[in-house]
Amino acid sequence: MANTILVGAQWGDEGKGKIIDVLTETSDIVVRSQGGANAGHTVIVGDEKFVLHLIPSGILRPDKVCVIANGVVIDPVSLVGEIEGLKQRKIKVGKNLLISETAHVVMPYHRELDGLRDHKKGKNKIGTTKRGIGPTYGDKAARVGLRMIDLMDPDRFAEKLKGRVRENNAVIKAWGGTPLSYKKVLADYQEAAAKLKPFVTNTVVYLHEAMNAGKRMLFEGAQGTFLDIDHGTYPYVTSSNTVAGGASTGSGVPPHRMDNVLGVMKAYTTRVGEGPMPTHNDAVSDLLHGMGREFGATTGRARRCGWFDSVLTRHAAMVNGFDDLAVTNLDGLDTCETLRVCVAYKVGRKTFEHLPNDKDDLANCVPIYQDFPGWRSSTENVREWKKLPVNARNYLKAITQLTGGRLKIVSVGPKREQTFML
Ligand code: IMP
Repeated sequence: MANTILVGAQWGDEGKGKIIDVLTETSDIVVRSQGGANAGHTVIVGDEKFVLHLIPSGILRPDKVCVIANGVVIDPVSLVGEIEGLKQRKIKVGKNLLISETAHVVMPYHRELDGLRDHKKGKNKIGTTKRGIGPTYGDKAARVGLRMIDLMDPDRFAEKLKGRVRENNAVIKAWGGTPLSYKKVLADYQEAAAKLKPFVTNTVVYLHEAMNAGKRMLFEGAQGTFLDIDHGTYPYVTSSNTVAGGASTGSGVPPHRMDNVLGVMKAYTTRVGEGPMPTHNDAVSDLLHGMGREFGATTGRARRCGWFDSVLTRHAAMVNGFDDLAVTNLDGLDTCETLRVCVAYKVGRKTFEHLPNDKDDLANCVPIYQDFPGWRSSTENVREWKKLPVNARNYLKAITQLTGGRLKIVSVGPKREQTFML
């Protein structure tokens, strides 16, 4: 497939990093088109573990080009840290990385306000990653944001920054936070700007030229469908369009040039941060945490875990238009005697086969389950569909059918080789 959009079908953390890494082999360019350093894509190569926050996972293959496109929000200081960290581990980062000049910049006041606002909300907090994502997209929508192109021009940046620090310091003070020093922010950001300058370019033009030259692109979605600002479980969402449509607006590659949408979903459900999660289940959480799994790659927080929720993934298939599906973490369920799959919700006497939009309804949803017998054997070393235990095959067939889409990839562990295609 020429241009593929990869999207998380749940609340993020679906194991996208690994699937992207596998698919990168057959792509020329890997594009990040939304989100920021709130993402944490984990890739294991041999015995080495890499966690990427802003740089596309394609960076781990030296012959691929990685693009951080216009829809991403970039914290320059953290991006420089990520680049330097990769270089120290002998990963090539040079002409193979391009950064959009129109991407918005995450500033220290965004991070400060992110933390203060969530804290002020008390029990209604969102549980953000505190990476400044919401306030940066807020400034973008309010048309007061600073972009990479501003950062690249020292005089323009210094001038614009003055007004922004003044205005935001007033809010920070009013909310009981510590105001920022204009001089320090300027110095830190100018230092990062100088290091990023060689990478910053017009990525829309680059992507179109590459596309016309027949290059294949992989759009690396960050977060997941239900964290989407429009289609997610608002207000417990992130501030970007995480659904497939976001790949077009966030990169400048038009929708009709996209050939395929791949939905990535875990064989069960997880969520980190606040917000409703109908299939949350303590026994499933204990099982997975006990295996040392399901701790956030960005914040280290324990994720809530529960049974597979096909109401969610069906909705995801609808808004993203999944052609193909990848199921990850199948091995996490290897020891279960019985597996439960949520097929609908009940709220009082009402049955929902689609996700209710009312957040109170969603919070009160009682899942209606269909049960499946477990396979109770290790799948970690399975590399072929036919070698999977029959109950595992039946389970996978059921969850993909309930979701809608062709099952294309199964992942049975964190390593590159623990993956097979159908
Ligand atoms: P923010 O994106 O930091 O504003 O956080 C908003 C919500 O999205 C919180 O519930 C976060 O836990 C969640 N979130 C943001 N990024 C990710 C991610 O990459 N994986 C999973 N959850 C995320």
